Amino acid sequence: MRDGSGTGLSRTQGLILGIESSCDETAAAVVRGGTDALSNVVASQMNLHANYGGVVPELASREHLRNVVPVVREALSRSGVSLDDIDAVAVTEGPGLAGALLVGITYAKALSFGLGKPLIGVNHLEGHIHAVLMEARQRAEAPMELPLLALVVSGGHTHLYLAEQTRDLAETQDSEGAWRYRNVGRTVDDAAGEAYDKVAKLLGLGYPGGPWIDSLAVRGNPRAVKFSFAQIKPRPHRDGASLPNKKAPVAASGPSFDFSFSGIKTAVLRHIETRHMRESVEARRAALAAKLELKPGSDEVVGLCDAQTLDLIASFQYAVVGNLLRQTFAAAEAFGARGIVVSGGVAANRELRRRFQAEADRRGLPVAFPSLALSTDNAAMIAAAAWPKFVLEQFAGDDLGATPQLRLGQG
Ligand code: KG4
Ligand code: ZN
Repeated sequence: MRDGSGTGLSRTQGLILGIESSCDETAAAVVRGGTDALSNVVASQMNLHANYGGVVPELASREHLRNVVPVVREALSRSGVSLDDIDAVAVTEGPGLAGALLVGITYAKALSFGLGKPLIGVNHLEGHIHAVLMEARQRAEAPMELPLLALVVSGGHTHLYLAEQTRDLAETQDSEGAWRYRNVGRTVDDAAGEAYDKVAKLLGLGYPGGPWIDSLAVRGNPRAVKFSFAQIKPRPHRDGASLPNKKAPVAASGPSFDFSFSGIKTAVLRHIETRHMRESVEARRAALAAKLELKPGSDEVVGLCDAQTLDLIASFQYAVVGNLLRQTFAAAEAFGARGIVVSGGVAANRELRRRFQAEADRRGLPVAFPSLALSTDNAAMIAAAAWPKFVLEQFAGDDLGATPQLRLGQG
């Protein structure tokens, strides 16, 4: 099936079983050729952790243990292929919760050993980027020109990566190259999704906060409350590389493409205190606790929010999305990116999609987002990211372990 140079596979071949268990979703998927998701099964623990207002690591590991076997079985059954048909097993090796990662890794190792098929370790953040690239291939779109600037923005991460695919000139046109990443921006404190979750909690809304704030923000005035973001000092890049696009105005002043979201959470808290909103927050918290069936976006939830609260929510979201947008487009310009990819849970946000699309159109730059189903954690993205590694035979050894702080790329 494979030739000596590792380039003999086309995207119509090669079945990869992906397994993901880095946080609070146990997921498995079968993907052919890094493109066709024959199945994509996600068992979410969201309701379990909602009671605690955040992910509880011990509970997450226990749920992964309970779910991993049925989820993999379901993924195989929906894909219509048997375990014997699988060509490789790919699994998230990090970043994430140590105990949670270990459940997926241990199971993937056992499967790979039992089947005599290669094991591939995948960085979760690379998976988020490949969710978008995989769906673009499914739509048979021409590949985006490289390099890409990828914003991975979720509950645990806010990173900017410059992504390129290196190709060996000896390889044929349609062969795979290894992906290379440079981490050109990251949050210095909270992730953007974490800010959504914490602000939603401060306002007595449900968990995770993103969908609640997303649906309520359209009802308020985004300019009612002004929020500002800390100026972050530029840091030298570890690989010593300079900005390639020297003509870019942002390059001259030594820009930082880092983020900080802890200040806005404190500013929201201060606003609640100084505007005497605490009573209405507690009333909303109690009303939602009494009606757990209420979902974000329902009219009843809107009815629990006064105009002052809706304005605060709209202003918070306007500021966060504006900050993500400015840093992303400034980095794209400074590094000469030819396209932008936005992925991770916060990429589901409607205002974010609308404003990123409008700015990209204004600049004549393509921008791509994952479908809503692939914005949040899933295993199809892990199998898709594993594909180039499979073709290039970059397999993991049986010493593959969980790396909770795993980084992606240099920088
Ligand atoms: O990628 P993900 O499922 O898990 C992590 O790797 O963290 O992202 C979950 C995060 C949560 O913080 C959640 O509040 C946020 O994504 N999120 C949203 C939306 N949907 C989910 N944030 C803003 N708007 C949304 N519509
Ligand atoms: Zn994620």
